[in-house]
Amino acid sequence: MKIAIYPGSFDPATNGHLDIIERSSRFFDKLIVGVLDNPRKKSLFKINERIEMLYEITQHLPNIEIDYFSGLTVEYAREKGASVIIRGLRAMSDFEYEFQMALTNSKLAPEMEMMFLMTSSKYSFLSSSMVKEIAMFGKNNLQLIDFVPETIARRTIEKYHLGSNGREE
Ligand code: PNS
Repeated sequence: MKIAIYPGSFDPATNGHLDIIERSSRFFDKLIVGVLDNPRKKSLFKINERIEMLYEITQHLPNIEIDYFSGLTVEYAREKGASVIIRGLRAMSDFEYEFQMALTNSKLAPEMEMMFLMTSSKYSFLSSSMVKEIAMFGKNNLQLIDFVPETIARRTIEKYHLGSNGREE
């Protein structure tokens, strides 16, 4: 069984992430989307929320598992029996970081293959940080609709604009 891991922060997952999930999952029997649980990195969404959202937006795909991990990606990939780690590449600005990470990973786990998919051009500018910025300064789900699935647009807006009692702030 050919298993691949797609690791990331997914805070939150964007249409760009979903595009990589959809396209890469075709090449494997199972694609495990691994959400990094890094308590030192400040995130907007809790780990269980990020998992829940990924789960919701991948319902149409038959061979996806959503999971979380902490520690090294290559160790997690080994534990899961994966032989490939997937990453998406956007502009050249991604390249240096991804190249460094790929070389480090292959030093740590020479048997593991890193596989890169070029993002679809319509998502080449898109990032989770951009989505959070739009949600922070805007208040309307519609402003996010081209960037993230509807459920994520709603939840991201709510994070910034609804108080803990669920009322608009
Ligand atoms: O979505 P992101 O934040 O760009 O994903 C980065 C991620 C999670 C893939 C990367 O930070 C990672 O693999 N972290 C786990 C620690 C690790 O394995 N480090 C060694 C590679 S440099």
